[in-house]
Amino acid sequence: MRKRIIAGNWKMYKTPRESVDFVAKFLPMIHDHTRDEIVLFPTSTSLSHVIEAVKGSNVRAGAQTMHWLNEGPYTGQTSPTMLASIHCTHVLLGHSERRMYAHETDDMVNWKLKAALLHGLTPVVCVGESLEKRQSGLTEAVLRWQIACALNGVEPESSAALVIAYEPIWAIGTGSTATPNQAQEAHAIIRREIAATLGSARAESTRILYGGSVKPENTATLMAQPDIDGALVGGASLDPDTFCRIVKYQTA
Ligand code: PGA
Repeated sequence: MRKRIIAGNWKMYKTPRESVDFVAKFLPMIHDHTRDEIVLFPTSTSLSHVIEAVKGSNVRAGAQTMHWLNEGPYTGQTSPTMLASIHCTHVLLGHSERRMYAHETDDMVNWKLKAALLHGLTPVVCVGESLEKRQSGLTEAVLRWQIACALNGVEPESSAALVIAYEPIWAIGTGSTATPNQAQEAHAIIRREIAATLGSARAESTRILYGGSVKPENTATLMAQPDIDGALVGGASLDPDTFCRIVKYQTA
């Protein structure tokens, strides 16, 4: 049984004060929720505040990106050891906005993934095709390539913490969510590719989250798919009431 993860990616929203206010409202709403793991990904200036605010609760906090090296002359970067030192538990890697605006390559995602695993961080590796690639019939090729690159040289024994997020670029922040069938199909491709690289046991235990315009209204039908093991939520995670409704989705 794969325990589902419902995660909120706050992107470049919320000051530390706004982040802590969110947590203060959100924790009492979900304090007895044990069915799924809940993770928040605040922006870097809010991260340590959120880690402090969720201490002792059923909510974890992660970073939206990191460098793969421990230290060095890399202005603006944060290292895996620095994240671990503030008790950060999770890290998003290769989000399409990072790939697009910060020019993160498949190689960098691979180096970051290895560094995260080495430092005991739970990596959430984001993959997904553009609308152009989907319309050209290249969805499977893109997903297999991104997964193969990310997992290059990763050992099955050291990748128990691995989490993948399937985020079709055309669904992110657009309001047009992938249909449950489209998402299931992509998740199955990803799981097959994990099996090809890390073996079927690791593929069976790896959580694959769906992201891209997840809302309270569409969460349950997405989560009902056999290969969807949670959600990575952007816009709809910014409001505690809305995010709580997503966390507490009920399948039929
Ligand atoms: P969205 O973003 O839910 O606003 O579409 C998802 C994400 O980018 O992780």
